[in-house]
Amino acid sequence: MILPKLILTRKKPASFSGDLLVYCFEQDKKERVKETRAGVKKELKKAIALGDFKGSDSDLLLLYPQASGKQSLSAKRLLFAGLGKEDADDTSAALERCRCCGGSIAEKAVELKAGKLFLCLPEVEGLKEEEVLECLVEGILLGDYRFLKYKKPDKKDPPFQSIKEIQISPVGSGKGLRRGLLRGRRAAEAARAARDMANEPGNGWTPTSFARYAHTLAKEHKMRCTVLDKRDMKALKMGGLIGVNQGSSEPPKMVVLEYRASKKAQTILLVGKGLTFDSGGVSLKPGAGMEKMKYDMCGGAAVLSMMQVVGAEKPNVNVVAIIPSTDNMPGSSALKPGDIICHYGGITSEIINTDAEGRLILADALAYGIEKYQPDCVVDLATLTGAVILGLGHHRTGLLGNNQNLINRLLAAGERSGEPLWQLPLDEEYSKQIKSTVADIKNTGGRPAGTITAAAYLQKFVGDTPWAHMDIAGTAWDFTEKSYVPKGPSGTGVRTLVELVRSWKKF
Ligand code: BES
Ligand code: MN
Ligand code: ZN
Repeated sequence: MILPKLILTRKKPASFSGDLLVYCFEQDKKERVKETRAGVKKELKKAIALGDFKGSDSDLLLLYPQASGKQSLSAKRLLFAGLGKEDADDTSAALERCRCCGGSIAEKAVELKAGKLFLCLPEVEGLKEEEVLECLVEGILLGDYRFLKYKKPDKKDPPFQSIKEIQISPVGSGKGLRRGLLRGRRAAEAARAARDMANEPGNGWTPTSFARYAHTLAKEHKMRCTVLDKRDMKALKMGGLIGVNQGSSEPPKMVVLEYRASKKAQTILLVGKGLTFDSGGVSLKPGAGMEKMKYDMCGGAAVLSMMQVVGAEKPNVNVVAIIPSTDNMPGSSALKPGDIICHYGGITSEIINTDAEGRLILADALAYGIEKYQPDCVVDLATLTGAVILGLGHHRTGLLGNNQNLINRLLAAGERSGEPLWQLPLDEEYSKQIKSTVADIKNTGGRPAGTITAAAYLQKFVGDTPWAHMDIAGTAWDFTEKSYVPKGPSGTGVRTLVELVRSWKKF
């Protein structure tokens, strides 16, 4: 899918003759009416007086302007979009209101098959104009997304027509607008890339696809890409990744993509679970809904996609992304319950359930990445446990770790990006549940606190390195309903990581 063209313009809204002229308003802001440019004051006043438009979030009013008089509009349609109620003290909420408004505009444009838009930027209490623009753009581009690669187009009645062009007209000085536009576009593009990867079926997006994508990014942005194949993994004794891959005929890959800012800069290591299809293995999952397990690579997709923003923006922090990738299949040489594997670094593990495979491939990646790159901190993202859905539903990502400073940064980054997280405890007691009588540890801790015992497993492989784990099993798809998150994979985590890196200060 091609992205709409985004153009900053000083042209008058009245002169726009395209499909949809858009104005956004905060709720109950009558004084805004008089500031409204062009000849829409009358229309807006009437709509407000009648109570047909309040400016609350997801409030939309579509009008057909009359082409008469001096101040008449040439646009085919006029849209008022609500920004919700102001709260000048809550910046994150204001940013999110802009995204949601952007998403609603996109939904309406898609419904109307409106290709050419003109957007008059609103003033939003508590935000700079460039932030308003950034989030509106993010919302529009994320809301305008569909995955139709495998659907034959119906020529007579296309199910979806994306926006082609958006002209954007500022209100204020125009300061920082280019920056805001680029930031919004890059973040949205990266999240859309992650959605594309996730939407691909298990036979369309394989470990090799991750490797190819990483190579392409490396070339485009002058980053370094290394891909470990099965032979390398054997030589390095990565028993987790090899073990999970044993039942599959699809070759595994450990994809490493490195962005170097400078020698002096700190290093962040990102690890993403790239399980391209999770059948459960010998501990086979029930059939109903198993197709959703093609999304089990969303952690890897988020980590790899966010690297395209890093490559483009060149922040002053080194970022290393590692995606351990395989599918989890029950072939005849598959891992069996009772088997014992040996992870990279030497920790042995008793396999109780072959469906607890995510932690096995992450353990190797964490141990390897930490030893090789000596990062100042590590963040991993994984669709790791069904249990996190029981605890937090589809509204928040589970967050655990061994370093409160890093956790706080992620909580803040998630809040600011509209991808909220919630911290769960990770006391020592939980690791009692993964003690094994025959190996160093075992790969499940029973039903109680499934999300935490999974994290306790990962913790064994990070040593003292500041580390945080994001369990995105509840948010990677079926994410909380929002105008800018169409059904299917959400791309969650991408914008949180982008925000973490953009706002990086010495750790
Ligand atoms: N990929 C799944 C986790 C998952 C389940 C994500 C449902 C999204 C929706 C993971 O590999 C898994 O199967 N975890 C097991 C662990 C259990 C066997 C200890 C689970 O959560 O049931
Ligand atoms: Mn599993
Ligand atoms: Zn899995």
